[in-house]
Amino acid sequence: MSETIPAFLAPMAGYSDLPFRILCHEEGASGQTTELVSATGIRHSGLDKSWRYVAVDPKLEGLVYVQLFGSEPDDFLYAADKILEDKRLTGIEGIDINMGCPVPKVVKTGAGSALMDRPDVAVRIVSGLAKKLEGTGYKLSCKIRLGFVGEEETAPALAPRLVEAGARMLTVHGRFRDQYYAGQADWEAIGRVSRSLTETGLRDQVFLVGNGDIENPDEARHLAKEAGVDGVAIGRAAMGNPWVFRPFSSPSTRTGATDEEKKKTIYRHAAMLCNFLGEERAMLEFRKTLARYSQNRPNAKALRQASNQILKLADIETWLTLF
Ligand SMILES: Cc1cc2nc3c(=O)[nH]c(=O)nc-3n(C[C@H](O)[C@H](O)[C@H](O)COP(=O)(O)O)c2cc1C
Repeated sequence: MSETIPAFLAPMAGYSDLPFRILCHEEGASGQTTELVSATGIRHSGLDKSWRYVAVDPKLEGLVYVQLFGSEPDDFLYAADKILEDKRLTGIEGIDINMGCPVPKVVKTGAGSALMDRPDVAVRIVSGLAKKLEGTGYKLSCKIRLGFVGEEETAPALAPRLVEAGARMLTVHGRFRDQYYAGQADWEAIGRVSRSLTETGLRDQVFLVGNGDIENPDEARHLAKEAGVDGVAIGRAAMGNPWVFRPFSSPSTRTGATDEEKKKTIYRHAAMLCNFLGEERAMLEFRKTLARYSQNRPNAKALRQASNQILKLADIETWLTLF
């Protein structure tokens, strides 16, 4: 039988809500990272304001990395203190540092993918946090891109420095910042990061995750073989499709989801979100998620239009009759 490559849910702002993360876990995702949360915001305002993004559930024990973004090493240390002190978060696996966000609002503060261009700051953030997490049992992870601009592939030089500084998981999205999400992810370039870790003798100190355009176990195996990664992270292919993880899990569940199963899952997603956020807010936010669930359906347009009418959980049942 062909080897199974662990598949993680990649962080996705606006989509990686707790209910969705629970569903992806149930379908077979090996782990997950929350959407990005500001280290500076947590430092100054505490965790409650960001709670909806970092929330965990007992089912997700040991599977969740809370992702922080920022540019000031001290902000990460204060934010980590708040995370470590918070009893609700004792079940997390660790903290992930965002070094990939391309959004101008984030980049202009020196955070996200701007750190690919500021390696000394990136390393200071990692080494400070690694010291803080030492002996706590929590792991430190980083998510990087290939570099900031396409002419400068900084990831192969940066990766060993991050691992030396204490990162124990490293996710490499095979694109540069200036590509945002366009074009094809460069899996060969992810391989260059892996080789650089091998050449510096650090490869066995880090769990290396490849990311970009993975949609199924065959592609994951291909990436693992060609680029030498230990696992993959799946982002967009999981949007409106938590079932993407199913063929990655145990062989007995390697069948596609039936329409009935899909409907049940969508309803559960909606119901859990209502519990989590309150019905009114949850259902307004869920409209965009329903648009994702509508993708690839023969009547996608009608489904999308109907999703704009959703106000209450009961409306989901009506929507599902069209699905
Ligand atoms: C809507 C959206 C939101 C995202 N939010 C985050 C985020 O909060 N943190 C992060 O590190 N990456 C974020 N990403 C990037 C993804 O984690 C992933 O690296 C990227 O989509 C490439 O993987 P894919 O081809 O499987 O989608 C986001 C991507 C999308 C499409």
